[in-house]
Order: sequence, then structure tokens, then C-alpha cells
Amino acid sequence: KHGYFTFDPGFLSTASCESTITFINGSQGILQHRGYAIDDLAKNASYLEVCYLLLYGELPNKAQYAEFSRIVSEHTMLNEQLTRCLQGFRRDAHPMAIMCGMVGTMSAFYHDSLDIANERHREIAAYRLISKMPTIAAMCFKYNVGQPFMYPRNDLSYAENFLHMMFATPCAEYTPNPVVAKAMDRIFTLHADHEQNASTSTVRLAGSSGANPFACIAAGIASLWGPAHGGANEACLKMLEEIGSVERIPEFIDRAKDKDDPFRLMGFGHRVYKNHDPRATVMRETCHEVLDSLNIKDPLLDVAMELERIALEDSYFVEKKLYPNVDFYSGIILKAVGIPTNMFTVIFALSRTVGWIAHWNEMMSDEGQKIGRPRQLYVGEIDKSFNGIEDR
Ligand code: SDX
Repeated sequence: KHGYFTFDPGFLSTASCESTITFINGSQGILQHRGYAIDDLAKNASYLEVCYLLLYGELPNKAQYAEFSRIVSEHTMLNEQLTRCLQGFRRDAHPMAIMCGMVGTMSAFYHDSLDIANERHREIAAYRLISKMPTIAAMCFKYNVGQPFMYPRNDLSYAENFLHMMFATPCAEYTPNPVVAKAMDRIFTLHADHEQNASTSTVRLAGSSGANPFACIAAGIASLWGPAHGGANEACLKMLEEIGSVERIPEFIDRAKDKDDPFRLMGFGHRVYKNHDPRATVMRETCHEVLDSLNIKDPLLDVAMELERIALEDSYFVEKKLYPNVDFYSGIILKAVGIPTNMFTVIFALSRTVGWIAHWNEMMSDEGQKIGRPRQLYVGEIDKSFNGIEDR
């Protein structure tokens, strides 16, 4: 089926599942969702069009898109009791801790009446998650800064609504710069899905036991939080701030190459891509668009671009096929929009929810699906004789 892609037959022996949602060819730097290239989708489709594509397998026509957008808009509010649960956290709780807790708690509010064996009920769970993640994400931020939560508005687009809930207050409306709203929507799309990454595999494994979708997504959020995975965007901006200037880049390149130094270039390298991550290319272009539109001169962009240039010419990174990934430029954009670093992975989780739930649904739709049970290679001791504690 993929005659024009070079398939490594050995790859199939390690494949964990079959899927029709996302295709990655890491050696060629190719990423496609249901057959559409990520560049085309990120530059020409809205995030909600991509959500529809990931869930239903094809891009929506105008009528389908209008209905899908209406349903998503009309489910963005949270149960007020769930909102009260959020107020049990410490004010300085990391937003990812709050989001993980809140999505798991959604099990207690939105799942009791759902039967995941029923396709329509799985669709309802998907809509509730896609609709409410921006509301929860913005609430995490508002709670941290001590401002009142802003209710979602049905007259705004998905990205505009998120920015409204983040930055509007009861005293002042927030009208996003159109370039910023479009960039936010594009960031959502660039993070929407990525095949069997650690967090998506976590969601699939949790779902294979029949756990409810809200608990499975909470498990995915927990996995994404790690700095080797979705936490890299927050870690990357902190790294760029620590480097601080172009002059200090060589020092950090040397550290990244030093086997005895645990430091790695955040936002660089990938388990699958051994060529450019196509998402990083679009993200870099978007970064320039946003900073130019807001007339921001961020020295960190100069540091990031020079770091990329130097690394891509350095034999260590060339030989190990290390390239910037999706997390390398995203933090600079989010910082320019006014989003704090501790919210970066929350936005990744918000974006990736549709990918997680699409994979969960694909798995749950397979009637032959069995519970996941990874095996191990046991390398410990066996058949030891027991001694009572008096003799040990
Ligand atoms: C995401 O899987 C996905 O699809 C994830 C993701 C998604 O959309 O879901 O794409 C999102 O998680 C992107 C990755 C974000 N993480 C980071 O940017 C953190 C920094 N990157 C690294 O920690 C690392 O590149 C990983 C974790 C992403 C991959 O690590 P691996 O599996 O060790 O990478 P590898 O096998 O290709 O490494 C080859 C060599 C190793 O050295 P040797 O053992 O051969 O001597 O390159 C080294 C690695 O130590 N290496 C790096 C490096 N990344 C790999 N050296 C310096 N800096 C780096 N960033």
C-alpha cells in the first residue's frame, strides 16, 4: 500500500498495533494524518477540521464541519461541581498536576451513563473531552494566577475561545490578534496526533482493560508530562533561557555531546524521526509570523536558530541523526503570546486529546481487542531456597 515509502520489514515485527490514523516515515521526515500531509493540514485546515479527520477518517464538508463545531462549542462548559474540585488544589500546583487530576475526575461526572461498548457513547465521550479540555486548561492558568475563571463563549472559534478563557477578565475583554489566534490553532494541529508515542501507547494500554475514556486520557496526560516527551517544550524554553546568548551555545553543544553529562538538547532528537520533524519546520515559520506580527524581538529566537544551525553542522548530531522536533520552537511562540512555561505541556495535552481519543476509539471498535500485556525478558535469579529471618 505504501509502495512509494520505503518500509523496513523488520519494523512490522515490533509494531504494537495496526492503525489507519497517522503515518510516520522517520527516515524521510514524513507525517500524515489519514493520508494528508501535516504541512497541508497545519497551513490550510482548522484544528477542528483535523479533529473531525482524526475521529471520522475524512475531512468534513461544510455541513459536517458546521454541525461538529456546534456540538463542540455547546459542550465547553464544566459541571459546576467539577469546577469546585479544582479549587481543592494548592494555588501553586503545577497546571499539569491539576489537569491530570481534573480529567481523571471527569470519570465521576461524565461517565456513569456511558457504555463504551456503544459506538455512540464513545463518540459522546470524545466530544466531551475535546470540548472541555480548553476550559480545564485555561482554568489551570487562572487558578495559578488567582484570577476568576472565565466561562467559554459559543460565538468564538476553538482557539479564540481558549485565548479568551486564558486572558479575558470580568473587567476586560480579550480580543486576540488574528495572527495569534491562527498560530494557536496551528499549534493545536501540530500536536494533535503522532502515532504510537509514549502517551498514546499509555492510553491504548489503559483502554485495553476496559477503563473509562476519561481515566485513560488522564493516564496519557501523566505520561506526556515527562521531560523526554511532552514536557520537553517547557524544558526547551528553560534551556534557551539558560543558554541566554549565541556566544554561550558552544558550551552547551559540548555538554550535550559529553557522555558523562546527563544534559541533552531539549527539543532535539526523536525516537522515530532521523530526519527533520516536519512539525518543527512549520513551527519555525509560525514563530517568525507571530513575532513579526506582534513586533517582538526575542533574543531566544536568535539563540534557537543559531543553536539549530550549529547542531545541524556538527558531526555528533549529524551522525546520530538528531534534528529539532516539535518542541524546539513552540515555547518561543507561546511565550510571545503571554503563556507561562508551566502551561506549555498543558497546551500539548489539550491538543493531543483528539489523537489519544481517536486511537482509543479505534482500539475499542475492534471487537477482537484483548487486554494489553507486554512481556519481559527475566534476567533475575531463580529457584532459591528459603531461609527464615532468624537465619538471614
Ligand atoms: C516528543 O514519540 C513521539 O512521537 C513523541 C512526540 C509526539 O509528538 O508524541 O514527537 C513528542 O516527545 C518529542 C521529543 C521531545 N523530547 C525532547 O526534545 C527531549 C530531548 N530529546 C531526547 O531526550 C531524545 O532525543 C529522545 C528522548 C526524544 C529520544 O531519545 P533516544 O531514544 O535515546 O534517541 P536516540 O536513540 O535517537 O539517540 C541516539 C543517540 C543517543 O546517544 P548514544 O546512546 O547513541 O551514544 O543520540 C543521543 C542519545 O543519547 N541523543 C542526544 C539527544 N537525543 C538523543 N544527545 C544530545 N541531545 C539530545 N537531545
